[in-house]
Amino acid sequence: MDRAIAREQALSRLLMTYIVTGLVFMLLPGTFLGVWNLIRISSREAAESVSPAWIQAHGHAQLFGWVGTFILGIGYYSIPKLRKLKPLVLWSAWLTWALWVAGVTMRWFSNIDAWHWRVALPLSAALELAAFLIFFQAVASHRSSGGSAKPAEPWIFVVIVATLALLASLLLNLGASFQLALHADSPAFPHLFDQRYLIVSTWGFIVPMVWGFSARWLPVFLGLRPLRNSFLLFSLAFNILGVVLGFLEHFLAAGIFLLLGAAMAVAAIRFFEPAAKPAKTLNVHRSLPVFIRIAYGWLLIAAALSIWAALVGSAPGIWGASRHALTVGFIAAMIFCVGQRILPSFCGKGVLWSPRLMLAMLILLMSGCTLRVASEILAYQRYATWAWNVLPVSALFELTAVALFAINLTVTFARPPVILASALTMTTE
Ligand code: HEM
Repeated sequence: MDRAIAREQALSRLLMTYIVTGLVFMLLPGTFLGVWNLIRISSREAAESVSPAWIQAHGHAQLFGWVGTFILGIGYYSIPKLRKLKPLVLWSAWLTWALWVAGVTMRWFSNIDAWHWRVALPLSAALELAAFLIFFQAVASHRSSGGSAKPAEPWIFVVIVATLALLASLLLNLGASFQLALHADSPAFPHLFDQRYLIVSTWGFIVPMVWGFSARWLPVFLGLRPLRNSFLLFSLAFNILGVVLGFLEHFLAAGIFLLLGAAMAVAAIRFFEPAAKPAKTLNVHRSLPVFIRIAYGWLLIAAALSIWAALVGSAPGIWGASRHALTVGFIAAMIFCVGQRILPSFCGKGVLWSPRLMLAMLILLMSGCTLRVASEILAYQRYATWAWNVLPVSALFELTAVALFAINLTVTFARPPVILASALTMTTE
């Protein structure tokens, strides 16, 4: 019994370290830099007034520093074999953390400051890849112990494909970093390569990862009807096709397949059909099912906007709006919703500190995202000049939402573990 508690506590400490690290990347190198960039762009009324290296520093910190760190931590936590706490596996998890943090931090500084970037940029990419390979080895070497081998469920297959797309993103990052170090005069990826690379790391890696975990948890959390597994596999196939076409610069066809894939995923998980049972929102705000449905709405909007952007041609405002509909409206909102539902119990803390703060944060996030997506199209595409003044307001809303999310989780983590709390109650009774 004592060993089981010690095991659980070691795992919770590991996961909390990953999550807090992700929160730090999200707040400072990610969101603050994003807000700073946006304020500069809107004060000069020109999208190209900020250095591409700074924009990419923000994007990399959000996608890999925040979302990537969360996913690696949750991945390590949920490998069932790790629950038996083989010392080597736990050691791998800490090594992954150290290499990953060093790589993502080095990448941010080499983009922001360009100090020794010809060494720092490829080295950062190598460190990130090394961290991932250690993680992958630990995950891939897991075999279910004993019993007859059950065929893997489709959601696991979706998560595996997403993990392979993360590997592809890291390999592209490494190859491009070496190219730049040898032949370029700035640490920023060229615009067209950056667009293609972002399709792999957002639609290829993060989107299916969210679908996989949605298929795993949301039918229970939202009381949905049984998952349509065949639809889920079709959505994955459409999505892969869309990502490959996007990487090959067929942006219109890519957008169409990404939209088909997203619509199929929505139909697979059955978000917009009447629920079969009441939602399980005991530990979080009861509005959780509404915000999850809104997030999936943003996913569809993001794909539709990418089709519009491809039809228009050079359309930085519509591409930017599509990207933030995806990253803020879908990815960030899903992490905020599902993260606050599962992380307190995974980390041994039972319930979220403040469900009401969760509601305020989600309202702010969604309002900020709506303002941002609409005004980015109007301002950057020169449809309405007044929209430049709305962009900083949207940034403020999103920044406040992000900060509230970090506060809610940090205070939750700072509370005594539930096992210890119950033990304490027992001794005082
Ligand atoms: C307060 C919230 C945020 C603000 C103010 C912000 C601001 C910006 C700005 C100004 C750009 C430059 C391109 C453009 O104008 O569209 C940008 C690009 C980008 N942002 Fe954000 N952002 C925010 C949140 C996020 C989040 C939550 C994510 C991901 C989870 C994200 C991922 C990205 C990516 C991937 C790019 C493209 C980078 C590149 O071109 O390589 N952003 N953001």
